[in-house]
Amino acid sequence: MAYEARTFVLPEMDGLSKTSVDQHLALYAGYVKNFNAMSALLPEYAKDSEKHAHALSELIRRRSFEFDGMRLHEYYFEQLEGGASPLTPEGPLAKQFEKEYHKVEYFLEYFRSIGNMRGPGWAMLYWDAHAQQFLAGFSGEQHQGHFVTLPIVLALDVWEHAFLLDYGATGKGKYIDAFFKNLNWSVIEKRFNALSSWKPQ
Ligand SMILES: [Fe+2]
Repeated sequence: MAYEARTFVLPEMDGLSKTSVDQHLALYAGYVKNFNAMSALLPEYAKDSEKHAHALSELIRRRSFEFDGMRLHEYYFEQLEGGASPLTPEGPLAKQFEKEYHKVEYFLEYFRSIGNMRGPGWAMLYWDAHAQQFLAGFSGEQHQGHFVTLPIVLALDVWEHAFLLDYGATGKGKYIDAFFKNLNWSVIEKRFNALSSWKPQ
């Protein structure tokens, strides 16, 4: 079954221009299109896997790049839908941040520093249900360095295409600030509530 690019209802945002966001959404749609195109080729190649061994291998490996590009952008854009909304101070997510990082601000500082790492990629917060704790990390491009078994709570795109237009090549820090200014924390809280209610056997 082919995937379809999702439509996001995004408000006017402070520090993330419509032009930049529209271009970003077009890139997202490209991932969906490429993933579908690769998937459609696979059955053909698989018919004679010996003859197509190299093409098949390359396609399978590259397909995760396209899929992760697709899905991570869906996580990213849905976090901006509905407009900026603060973290609920006494909510379960804020409490978990305080438990692990002492203060929410300390988590944000840590997460910002991950986002500011050099190279294109994603700063990500995952939930490890086995240990009942967060793991924060950086995925190079979008398919390397994941905690592959863990679900994502927060996804911050730090590829240059996310900030170049609004902030220039050295403006990643300002872009990260703008992202958090426009973040709808209720989306992150919903994800966390759904994930933290499940405990492994
Ligand atoms: Fe992106």
